[in-house]
Amino acid sequence: MVCLGNICRSPLAEGILKAKVTTDQVLVDSAGTAAYHIGKGPDIRSVQVAKSHGIDISLQRARQFKKTDFDDFDFIFVMDQANFDNVVSLASTKKDKKKVQLILNEISPEMNSEVPDPYYGGEDGFKNVYDMLDIACDSIHKKLSI
Ligand code: 4NP
Repeated sequence: MVCLGNICRSPLAEGILKAKVTTDQVLVDSAGTAAYHIGKGPDIRSVQVAKSHGIDISLQRARQFKKTDFDDFDFIFVMDQANFDNVVSLASTKKDKKKVQLILNEISPEMNSEVPDPYYGGEDGFKNVYDMLDIACDSIHKKLSI
């Protein structure tokens, strides 16, 4: 799960998908394309909206997406087009490029809809992001049978 800062959207996506996955054979992780927040915990507004749904993301720590993530992960879900472009620019093979998908295409294929960045907005933006990611993660969970 990849966003820009790895403190708002992708920590939620990581927490939501982890809560749905029932096997220990799957590694779910998140990262940001930017280095601004490395080592920090998620934004308190993401922590709170996750908590309101019974999910604790408070122990996550931000990290930056790195080239070797292409070796370690089969699927790379990004939140918006800028994340897509940044991650794809680090891919060195066609196979790796194909791993990168806009997460909302899981529910609206080929629409290229984006998960809006809630960082500069209010709490409602975080609730909206949570709801979008919950539906997308349901779809991923079912599709991958995890
Ligand atoms: P995220 O949100 O990409 O969903 O983690 C953001 C967090 C921080 C900033 C931008 C977006 N920032 O500019 O610091």
